[in-house]
Amino acid sequence: MKNVMILTGAGQIGMAIARRMGYGMKIVIGDKRLENAEAVTDTMNKAGFDAVPAEMDLSSRNSILELINKAQQYGEIAMLVNAAGVSPSQASIETILKVDLYGTAVLLEEVGKVIKPGGVGVTISSQSGHRLPALTSDEERQLACTPTEELLSLEILQPRNIRDTLHAYQLAKRCNVKRVMAEAVKWGKRDARINSISPGIIVTPLAFDEFNGPRGDFYKNMFATCPAGRPGTTDEVANVAELLMSNRGAFITGADFLVDGGATAAYFYGKPM
Ligand SMILES: NC(=O)c1ccc[n+]([C@@H]2O[C@H](COP(=O)([O-])OP(=O)(O)OC[C@H]3O[C@@H](n4cnc5c(N)ncnc54)[C@H](O)[C@@H]3O)[C@@H](O)[C@H]2O)c1
Repeated sequence: MKNVMILTGAGQIGMAIARRMGYGMKIVIGDKRLENAEAVTDTMNKAGFDAVPAEMDLSSRNSILELINKAQQYGEIAMLVNAAGVSPSQASIETILKVDLYGTAVLLEEVGKVIKPGGVGVTISSQSGHRLPALTSDEERQLACTPTEELLSLEILQPRNIRDTLHAYQLAKRCNVKRVMAEAVKWGKRDARINSISPGIIVTPLAFDEFNGPRGDFYKNMFATCPAGRPGTTDEVANVAELLMSNRGAFITGADFLVDGGATAAYFYGKPM
């Protein structure tokens, strides 16, 4: 039996992290699009990794439980990388809330019940969650602690209170960070850690959909005017994941890390006074 990594989301960010951390492990790669999971599995296996693909839907608890069950057939789950998600230009408000917000919350909850002692996880949030104006402390607590099956009934998550898909995405990503904080307490009881990474614009197929979507110019301007002056690469996200998931990150849990080339700093304070 091997230590097992679950990777949800066979996209570019997920693969970069799995390649950095998944050596010597069984890597179970789940994606809604089986062909994506198969393609990443193939690339990784040809590079010496030991991966298997699985079709799964992050927005379904049953599907998450099936993936966990499949993973456990290979050994104990020692790592979780959640890089599945849909962006504002790819999906409706409802889908964004079901996948990015509810699905992530359920995945962290269910893996948190079985993670091996000493295990670690990262989930990919977004700089978008950092742009959302401050919520009340009650709202933040609700996002952090509401039982998963009641999350989508929260008043702030009702479609009448959500302007557009970007607003839904921001709420989902803010919720991810809050769930990570609340889950870190539970994961800690198993001597396991969970953190999130909030990337800025990282060049991936998902980012290309944004560049070519209704907010394309906004995104291109965002990276052109940020301190780094360019979009990021998936390997730069993996650099942070490596710190968080290795023993060097042993004192880091329940935290979120912005990896955005300074785009959030420029968004809030970059304009001349
Ligand atoms: N690329 C960026 O600029 C950027 C910035 C901030 C945050 N993110 C976040 O990073 C994560 C990974 O994105 P990426 O850029 O690597 O995109 P990507 O398009 O390369 O990968 C995302 C993967 O998630 C899968 N997926 C979508 N819905 C799913 C579902 N319901 N169940 C299972 N899998 C599903 C897709 O099929 C795809 O393979 C997402 O959560 C995204 O919101 C990306």
